[in-house]
Order: sequence, then structure tokens, then C-alpha cells
Amino acid sequence: MTEQKNQHILLTSRPKGMPSMENFTFEDIEIPEPQNGQVLLKTLYLSVDPYMRGRMNDTKSYVPPFELNQPVSGGIVAEVVQSRSGEFEEGDLVIGNLPWALYTTAGEQEVRKLDPELAPITTNLGILGMPGLTAYFGLLDIGNPQEGETVVVSGAAGAVGSTVGQIAKIKGARVVGIAGSEEKVNYLKNELGFDAVVNYREAGNIRQALKEACPDGVDVYFDNVGGEISDAVISLLNKYARIPLCGQISLYNLEKQDVGPRIQGQLLINSALIKGFIVSNYASQFGEGAKQLGQWLQEGKLKYEENVVEGFENTIDAFLGLFKGENLGKQLVKVAEPSQS
Ligand SMILES: NC(=O)c1ccc[n+]([C@@H]2O[C@H](COP(=O)([O-])OP(=O)(O)OC[C@H]3O[C@@H](n4cnc5c(N)ncnc54)[C@H](OP(=O)(O)O)[C@@H]3O)[C@@H](O)[C@H]2O)c1
Repeated sequence: MTEQKNQHILLTSRPKGMPSMENFTFEDIEIPEPQNGQVLLKTLYLSVDPYMRGRMNDTKSYVPPFELNQPVSGGIVAEVVQSRSGEFEEGDLVIGNLPWALYTTAGEQEVRKLDPELAPITTNLGILGMPGLTAYFGLLDIGNPQEGETVVVSGAAGAVGSTVGQIAKIKGARVVGIAGSEEKVNYLKNELGFDAVVNYREAGNIRQALKEACPDGVDVYFDNVGGEISDAVISLLNKYARIPLCGQISLYNLEKQDVGPRIQGQLLINSALIKGFIVSNYASQFGEGAKQLGQWLQEGKLKYEENVVEGFENTIDAFLGLFKGENLGKQLVKVAEPSQS
């Protein structure tokens, strides 16, 4: 292994507003030696996700902040290149929450083996992984869409949103997406069968555009973005509407707190439900969710896209791209080829 180089990405200052390259440092390090019960891993794909922005702030949340001068970490698919564990062999493919590094060590409990025969390994970071499960549980448990109802989803062409819309279609709902480019609008309508899509960047009056796209009002609003887009959707709620509150990406980089319309009145007069959730709330049911998603995928009822940026050195660009809408589907970084390929 000694001829290989190793590098990791540290968070070296906390971003104010939109993060930039200045907040991160690429540091050359030694390839670590696995201890008894550990494996040495080569990163193949890493996932960049909007929630990571929250972890860059020093504030209390559902996960602790990233520590300064420590590697950023997240979902990673890796290959075992050396094993000192009875449970893993060289060549095994695994997934875990691991540091952004070319090589790292992990204990047996920190990673889970993947079967590349079941589905492409990258799907474990997307449609069959955390984002897919977020869509599945948030929509079905909180949104509970019924046949013929109108389901609106914002961030519709992203990893979570594109899955939400398709599951809502499987359940017989009329699906309206909100996304930020014509390419995304066309994809959602023509490839995924959304009934209508509003381009929030081009719409002008978004409330009016949504009103036209939702002539029967809104029964379920899967909120990925917050801000003015959500204000507009919430003004169109039907009686007994449900809002799975999944994300607020339009607010993650604001330097000052945003004050919008007070929505409690709308919720009250419509007997509507809004409920925040974190996908890990459903951890005990992940097996069931992944099985159903996998089955829909096999049956061709679910489709997915991945936006794969090549090269570890482009990880920060890929992460920042999430806030500029550069990704269609799940944003990934390809770091290395598996040795066997
Ligand atoms: N609650 C949970 O457990 C959980 C789990 C996973 C994800 N989430 C949340 O779910 C949301 C989607 O996550 P994802 O992983 O699927 O990301 P994603 O949708 O694949 O990527 C982010 C997308 O958000 C849109 N966006 C960025 N800035 C925006 C803005 N200011 N206004 C409106 N849209 C904006 C962009 O698309 P456009 O081109 O359409 O702007 C971008 O492509 C995020 O808010 C994330 O934090 C929550």
C-alpha cells in the first residue's frame, strides 16, 4: 500500500452563509494501519448531502456539528483492501458513515457489506439508501397520499424529491413537482410521469403558477426547500392536508433568520398537519423500506438519476453544487474504481 497516497478533507473554518473552498483543507496523510477487528478501506463513491451544511454550524441539532480541523464525514461506499476482521475479506464492498478520505480504517460495526449483484453499488447512497428511505417514510407515514389526491413536492428533481413524486404516483395521486430548470421540468414530466411541474425560477408569480397546476388544491405537500416556495404551496392547502417537513434547503445558507408569513392560521382553518421528521426516526423499519424500494426498482415502477462528479479533488464543488441546483437526481463523487473492475 505504501506507494499509494492518502488525503482527507478537513473543515477548517465554519462557513458564514454559502460555504466556499476556504472553509476546507485537503491534507496529505499516511495510510492508516488497521488494528485487530478493523478493515482498511479505499473510498469508491462518496455522497454529498444538504444536511451536511447544518453540521458545519456550531449549533445544536439532531446530529452534533462537525468538529473544526477534523475530517468531514458522510455516506461512503468503499472497498476492503486489507482485513484484520473475521467478518470481511479483501475485495468486499461496504457502506458506512466515514470520513472524506481516500483511505480510512473502520471497525466491523461501522460498515455493512453490500451485494453488488442486487443493485448498482451507488444506489445504496441514493434511491435504496438514505434519500430513498427519507422519501418513502416521510411520504407514506406522514403524507399518507390517497388515490386522486394532489401531492406537491418541492426540490422535485433531487434525490429525495424525485423518489417522493414517483411513490405518490404509485399510490395513485396526482403529482405536481417544483424544480429550478427546464431540463428538470422535462425530466420530471417526460421520464417520471409527473402530472405538472412548476419551474420556480421562471414562474414569476409562483403562487399563481401553482394554483394553475393544482386546480383542486393541495392535499399533501412534501417540503424539501422551505422559504417562499413553501409559503406559496401552503396558501393552497385543502382541508385535512398533510405536510411532511423534510428539509429547508433555501434557508441553510442564510446569514439572518428569515421571517415569512405566519402559517398557523392556514393550518388551523384547514385542520392541516405539519410534521418534521428525520429519516433515522424510522431506523427500525429501514429493512422493510429498502425491500419495497428495491422491488419497485426491479419492477420498473421507480427510476433514478445520479449526477456523478469524478475525482476526490472535486468533492467541495459537488457539495456546493447542491445549493446551485447543479444536480439532477442524487449527487455523488466518484473517488476510485473498484480493484476488481
Ligand atoms: N429529514 C431528513 O431526514 C432528510 C433526509 C435527507 C434529505 N433531507 C432534506 O431533503 C432535501 C432534499 O435533499 P436531497 O438530498 O434530495 O438533495 P437534492 O434535492 O438532491 O439536491 C438539492 C436540490 O435543492 C434545490 N435547491 C437548492 N437551493 C434551493 C433554493 N434556494 N430554493 C429551492 N430549491 C433549492 C436544487 O434543485 P433546483 O434546481 O430545483 O433548485 C438542488 O438540486 C434537503 O432539504 C435535505 O436537507 C432531509
